[in-house]
Amino acid sequence: MQLLQVLPFIGLVLAQQPKLDLTNKNDVVAAAKAAMWPLKMHYDANKEASGAWIEQLVQWHESGIYWNLFYQYMQYSGDTQYLSFVDHEMQISAGGNSDFLDGMNPFLEIAGRWNDDIGWWGLSTMTAAETFGKDAIVAKDNLLTGFNPKYFDLANNTYYEILIGSDDLCGGGIYWSRSRSSTSSDPYLKSTITNVEEMELGVRLYGMTKNPVYKNTVDTLYAWLKSSNIIGSDYTVYDGLRTTNCSVSYEVYSYHTGPLMTSLARMYVLTNDATYLTEAHNVFAAVKRQFVDPTTQTLSIEPLRPVGKDPSGYSFTVYRGLADLYLASNDDSIKSQIATILRASATANFKLCDSNWYCMRSMPVGTQFTLLNGTNVRDQFETVSILNSLSVMLGASSQISAVTTTKSAALGTASLSMAAVVGLLVGVVVPYLL
Ligand SMILES: *[C@@H]1O[C@H](CO)[C@@H](O)[C@H](O)[C@H]1NC(C)=O
Ligand SMILES: *[C@@H]1O[C@H](CO)[C@@H](O)[C@H](O)[C@H]1NC(C)=O
Ligand SMILES: *[C@@H]1O[C@H](CO)[C@@H](O)[C@H](O)[C@H]1NC(C)=O
Repeated sequence: MQLLQVLPFIGLVLAQQPKLDLTNKNDVVAAAKAAMWPLKMHYDANKEASGAWIEQLVQWHESGIYWNLFYQYMQYSGDTQYLSFVDHEMQISAGGNSDFLDGMNPFLEIAGRWNDDIGWWGLSTMTAAETFGKDAIVAKDNLLTGFNPKYFDLANNTYYEILIGSDDLCGGGIYWSRSRSSTSSDPYLKSTITNVEEMELGVRLYGMTKNPVYKNTVDTLYAWLKSSNIIGSDYTVYDGLRTTNCSVSYEVYSYHTGPLMTSLARMYVLTNDATYLTEAHNVFAAVKRQFVDPTTQTLSIEPLRPVGKDPSGYSFTVYRGLADLYLASNDDSIKSQIATILRASATANFKLCDSNWYCMRSMPVGTQFTLLNGTNVRDQFETVSILNSLSVMLGASSQISAVTTTKSAALGTASLSMAAVVGLLVGVVVPYLL
């Protein structure tokens, strides 16, 4: 396999910092392979019994994004050495109801698993479904009755659970939280991130099923984002609106634009309707105007970034959106601008890495958004998300022919370890922080 031939060569040319040719697909895929081990290395010591990082260190929704980094890597590299590790955690997370809410357990719904949170987990399992096939199941090497849902069902069930949070107030859209009780936390916000994640789930489910139901949702949500002025006439994407008075919350964060670019770009590929591509190009122009440093061309500007949150964690899915738009676009100028941004961002980010592709800074103990000892694991998330996006941009594509592991799960020889079973039980009662 190409990968194995390339790796030793890379080893020779690495000095203190990794050096690679950012225009060479094999180089970039080999770098991604090398950067995966550090991505995993601190997880075991810092995990919750619920298939996620300890929430005080890495928030639950970010764990959903974290697993997606692995599934995406597997898709284009064909390297499945982390599949059991990831799948066993996903199996615990999904529990016995083929969703991320323990069958819409009201406690979980108010305690930090809101629509945007479960959306990231749904997108992660969507990637796994696209990688391994519509009928592939979670943890095929660890069969346990009721605990091997199809990745597809996790994505589809999450899509429908999120959709429950929509109504016609202020013209449509989906709420951020899952409780409509006036005494619950922030019951009135229809957050942009929830709506663009649901769009992305809808586009990708449409791609896999060709069922127009999903496409209709995507079109309806996008039309609402524009008619409500959450997406402004200059394609600035604002944070959402509250149904108390329908006025837009004008905060601007880059992360909304990742799922949005992915949705519009992939919808263009699926339908060949040029309107989607034009809209995606317009969103890209706003991304460049607001979040890309004009001097360095890096995706490094976050207008409202909380002090001390660096890397912000907001960029991970923007890189992915840029790569998806690059693949879909037929506009050479836009493609070249995207390539410049991804390569400049890669060069800046990779300066943190040593020759083993360990890219995490040691920050002062107690720094926010790090492990307790200051190790900034999000640095590695960022490195891998850039390498994933560069690989996709360079045309690395599915290396795995969809396996159809439809055999029904059965108790018996293979079963969940005792610790994992305990984790499953604990998973539904652990209090999640907001
Ligand atoms: C997706 O989930 C919905 C709601 O549970 C269900 O009605 C539908 O059949 C599912 N779609 C597929 C293709 O399984
Ligand atoms: C709309 O309501 C929000 C609170 O939900 C408030 O902050 C904002 O000022 C209101 N805007 C207008 C135009 O009344
Ligand atoms: C920080 O803590 C992690 C475990 O959470 C440990 O693996 C790592 O070695 C520690 N780093 C340093 C610099 O002590």
